[in-house]
Amino acid sequence: MTERTLVLVKPDGVSRGLVGEVITRLERKGLRLVAAELRTLDRETAETHYAEHRERPFFADLVEFITGGPLMALVVEGPRAIEAFRALAGATDPVKAGPGTIRGDFALEVQNNIVHGSDSPESAAREVRLFFPDLG
Ligand code: TYD
Ligand code: MG
Repeated sequence: MTERTLVLVKPDGVSRGLVGEVITRLERKGLRLVAAELRTLDRETAETHYAEHRERPFFADLVEFITGGPLMALVVEGPRAIEAFRALAGATDPVKAGPGTIRGDFALEVQNNIVHGSDSPESAAREVRLFFPDLG
């Protein structure tokens, strides 16, 4: 069954020139791009996107970071796309992420971990709607 997920190439990934690398990897896997937009998040959108982490000690820094420059927002589609992209991304902590994953290959710090991928069908639906309200 085909599924959609929200992928972000975060500001660190954009500033390091890794947008093409991320898109290449997900397309090579067989996932398909449905929407793409380079944009800088306002604080409200960032806080809504990361609302589940509102009480965590890293929340303020995370919002600063994610609003600190342009990011590439993508909607990606395919069979089990949510799980498939999370596997391509690797573990949240890039030092623990396996080699061959995006975070494992390109990052060292938890905050600056290059990509976001929705973690469940519910969050995918919510996040796709937040970033692309006009998408059918
Ligand atoms: P989380 O949803 O736990 O990870 P993932 O992106 O793998 O779904 O956390 C969201 C982001 O918050 C994470 O990508 C990086 C940042 N973060 C920190 O800066 N410090 C932390 O201790 C954690 C757990 C996350
Ligand atoms: Mg998450």
